[in-house]
Amino acid sequence: MTLSVSGLSAVRSGRTILFPTSLEIEPGARIGLVGASGSGKSTLGHALIDTLRAQGSCVAHVPQSPDEALDPLRRMAFHWREAETALGLPHDADRQQALFRALKIETGDLRKRPWGWSRGMQQRFVIAMALIGAPNLLVMDEPTSALDPIVAARTMVLLEDYLAARDTALVLITHDLGLAAGRVTRLLVMNAGRIIEDRPTSELLAAPRTTQAASLCAHRNWLALPC
Ligand SMILES: Nc1ncnc2c1ncn2[C@@H]1O[C@H](COP(=O)(O)OP(=O)(O)OP(=O)(O)O)[C@@H](O)[C@H]1O
Ligand SMILES: [Mg+2]
Repeated sequence: MTLSVSGLSAVRSGRTILFPTSLEIEPGARIGLVGASGSGKSTLGHALIDTLRAQGSCVAHVPQSPDEALDPLRRMAFHWREAETALGLPHDADRQQALFRALKIETGDLRKRPWGWSRGMQQRFVIAMALIGAPNLLVMDEPTSALDPIVAARTMVLLEDYLAARDTALVLITHDLGLAAGRVTRLLVMNAGRIIEDRPTSELLAAPRTTQAASLCAHRNWLALPC
């Protein structure tokens, strides 16, 4: 089912940081939300999550850093159970094993606390947790910026392999066109609280229409990046 939202907006401290925005997201869509820092990407991501959840859709969120999702004082097993409980699901060892295999974290010791796992494994664990409820949409906000480029690329490949057979749509929020370019088919460019371009990735990269999109395309050699 296509996910549809309209009139998303946000005002903070009397300032409009997200102007009324509508979006349609097809099942299995791969969408990149790019733009300069402060353009409103995370604000739109949160508004999208809140609104779709209020409509009854299962939407999962992967934050920028595993630190935002994992309590350093709690064991990994606790986090997993909490995520299941929050979704109203009983513990399911088979589901857990399947997700751990998909994200290649089977060797992780669930009795350890987050700092007993590498950051790359922590972030894969957070992504696996986000998939517990078989969401309609996964919103990832700078999901690999805390990882080195090789680990980041491997993590995205594992996730893409897992999602390939499913209808889960993906919104990848990033200011890094290098990360988005090879993995999304549609790019939304934000500037000052508005989507200023919404086009197929290849078209936008070949001929950006706005100066903001042109500067994102030009600011680095994104084709040469590993992720
Ligand atoms: N709670 C808040 N109160 C006041 N202003 C806010 C608040 N949250 C965000 N803003 C402002 O809204 C604008 C958009 O912020 P947002 O975090 O959505 O940008 P972003 O595109 O995700 O940036 P980044 O790439 O740095 O993560 C920024 O100017 C930010 O300072
Ligand atoms: Mg942000």
